[in-house]
Amino acid sequence: MSFDLQLAGKRVVVTGGTQGIGAAVVEQLSTLGARVVATARSEPKRAVAHVHYVAADMSTADGVGKAVEAAGHHLGGIDILINVVGGSSAPAGGFARLDDAEWAKALDLNLMSSVRMDRALLPAMIAQRSGVILHVTSIQRMLPLHDSTIAYAAAKAALSTYSKALSKEVTPKGVRVIRVSPGWVETDASIDFLGGIAANAGTDYEGAKQMVMDALGGIPLGRPAKPSEVADLIAFLVSPRAESISGTEYTIDGGTVPTS
Ligand SMILES: NC(=O)c1ccc[n+]([C@@H]2O[C@H](COP(=O)([O-])OP(=O)(O)OC[C@H]3O[C@@H](n4cnc5c(N)ncnc54)[C@H](OP(=O)(O)O)[C@@H]3O)[C@@H](O)[C@H]2O)c1
Repeated sequence: MSFDLQLAGKRVVVTGGTQGIGAAVVEQLSTLGARVVATARSEPKRAVAHVHYVAADMSTADGVGKAVEAAGHHLGGIDILINVVGGSSAPAGGFARLDDAEWAKALDLNLMSSVRMDRALLPAMIAQRSGVILHVTSIQRMLPLHDSTIAYAAAKAALSTYSKALSKEVTPKGVRVIRVSPGWVETDASIDFLGGIAANAGTDYEGAKQMVMDALGGIPLGRPAKPSEVADLIAFLVSPRAESISGTEYTIDGGTVPTS
């Protein structure tokens, strides 16, 4: 028996679509026959055939405007918006290292990128009485780390609350709004990061991996998730097969969060 996700021909925008989870989502949806526009600041190292890439800084209103215009031009409308972009480059050292500029950076990238994209693209979805918006949050919204990611964790918590509120407003108008909350995902960036930890601690890659899992309080599954596993979950959630799902957050963390 086939399990067709019915994504062929769907018009999809993926933010942060050239690396990590976003790149895996772009690849998966494109393989399933969706028409995909992906945004990032730089060109992808491995471009997926038939995907249109837009260079735009999604942490600014101008960048979002550019992405929206390009999506309209290339897709002629939208069915699915997947807001993946996010992250943190804040310095370590706790609250005192986070000045107003660091807070603004965290909020612009992790919250306002989605708020601005949704605000621009929702009117068309509401007019056609169908659409899906997905927000990628993080388990840090409920399990925050304090060394360098206080602002990131708070921004993801705000994103989650915003997403829930939005779902209440627009689900009755035909637009589903969903969240996916990953724990540690073994992206290329995190593989590079572990290389640095391993070198500093005089251990190998597996030793560094164990150190990070210990810092998270352990991962019962014994390993981080793969980007493709997060992409599989997202592909199902944005597909018509998940039509009765809205306003909910799906955690994918191998059991890291000890409650809920
Ligand atoms: N990896 C994890 O363990 C993990 C855990 C929980 C949640 N998450 C969340 O999952 C999402 C994806 O994370 P990831 O680790 O897969 O990301 P990643 O590997 O660091 O890739 C980030 C993507 O976003 C783009 N990007 C970054 N800043 C941008 C900006 N200002 N404007 C436009 N594009 C930008 C990057 O391309 P350019 O650099 O070329 O712009 C790249 O395509 C994020 O929201 C993150 O918070 C990740």
